[in-house]
Amino acid sequence: MQKTILIRYKPHAGQLEFHMCPARFRVLDCGRRWGKTIAGANELIRQMWTQGPNIVGFAVAPTYWHTKRQWTEFFNFCPAELIKEIHRSDRHVILKGNRNIWFKSADNPDSLRSQGVKVLWVDEGAQIAEEAWTLALRPALMDEKGIAFFTGTPRGHNWYFRLWTRGQDPSQMEYKSWNFPSASNPYLDPAEIAAFARDMPELAYRQEVLAEFLEDVGSVFRGVDCMVQGSFQPFERHKQYVMGADLAKLEDFTVLCVLDMDGHLCAFDRFSQLDWVFQRKRIVQLAERYNARLLIDSTGVGDPVCDELYRENVRVDGYKFTNATKKDLIENLSIMIENQQLTIPQVPELINELKLYGYKTTPSRNVQYGAPEGYHDDTVIALALAAWQLKRAPPPGRGAVMPY
Ligand SMILES: Nc1ncnc2c1ncn2[C@@H]1O[C@H](COP(=O)(O)OP(=O)(O)OP(=O)(O)O)[C@@H](O)[C@H]1O
Ligand SMILES: [Mg+2]
Repeated sequence: MQKTILIRYKPHAGQLEFHMCPARFRVLDCGRRWGKTIAGANELIRQMWTQGPNIVGFAVAPTYWHTKRQWTEFFNFCPAELIKEIHRSDRHVILKGNRNIWFKSADNPDSLRSQGVKVLWVDEGAQIAEEAWTLALRPALMDEKGIAFFTGTPRGHNWYFRLWTRGQDPSQMEYKSWNFPSASNPYLDPAEIAAFARDMPELAYRQEVLAEFLEDVGSVFRGVDCMVQGSFQPFERHKQYVMGADLAKLEDFTVLCVLDMDGHLCAFDRFSQLDWVFQRKRIVQLAERYNARLLIDSTGVGDPVCDELYRENVRVDGYKFTNATKKDLIENLSIMIENQQLTIPQVPELINELKLYGYKTTPSRNVQYGAPEGYHDDTVIALALAAWQLKRAPPPGRGAVMPY
């Protein structure tokens, strides 16, 4: 008779439902901090022990860092009496009865190819490439008719969503899936969720906390293709214009965007010279040409830059970036794009930066807007600074732009 092993783990109601379900493929879709990793680690211990001796288990996560979390939680709960050998450098554990567990990162899909995996746990599956599942992990389960369970927060409508959808269909007997918001973890202080959610845009909140599968999330601006219309326009005497400028810092570009009061991008300039005299000249020229009121990213450069432009007769104000003011600026741009209040000519670098612009939740669980690693965001910021001035503009026909 098999010995009963006691694990010091008290699952909450949602975790218990997951543990008790006998489906071969289980998909837990939950908000951040719900207890996904803890539940997955405990399920791994349980399944490795009950599925028999001489078996192989895989614990997979998107990155090396994530597998470390799985590894840590596994050892937080695994009773010492079950463990035979630990090979830290290979992330390989052997439990008694020749039960082998490898902790693997999915950023190298080839390393996931295997045979005869009996127990598979994938944490944060939505962040793993589809091929890792279809070409490597799913076939590995075939020989031994292995079981798999997935824990994660959603990331749009990808393969993880499709797998989860199967689990919602009662006719798919082998699949079962759940959706739990962060708040259903009773061990989590509601104040912690509130603090986490405070700086989040609506969509991020729905994805990260409510665990909804949303389209287009991760990208901040929706409807970018719809805003591409018309061409650049010369100055017209009866019209008013606003301009946004993002100054080149270390290795990026200075970008200038001029909008008319209808929200059309009439002029766009982008150059990489860092020399301030050169930058100033170009800014002054464009502002003069359109008689535009200018809002400039003055973070780090301070008031002297505005003063100098002012002395050149440019109507200029500075916009200082903090996490909060950047959020306001970007969210205004996002709303205006979504409401189709802005149009731009075919400017590939602007269109691409808008499409790539995203948000991420930091390890300390704050929301940060920005371009992905290795990409620029200066065209987005310049457009956002121009659009910010339209936000406060009186309805068309009522005259001048209000000061902000
Ligand atoms: N059954 C449980 N018993 C005690 N604490 C729990 C339990 N389940 C979750 N928690 C607590 O909830 C918090 C989140 O747990 P865990 O790291 O497993 O969540 P997660 O959903 O994987 O989070 P993340 O989204 O950051 O990956 C931790 O503080 C953990 O201690
Ligand atoms: Mg986790």
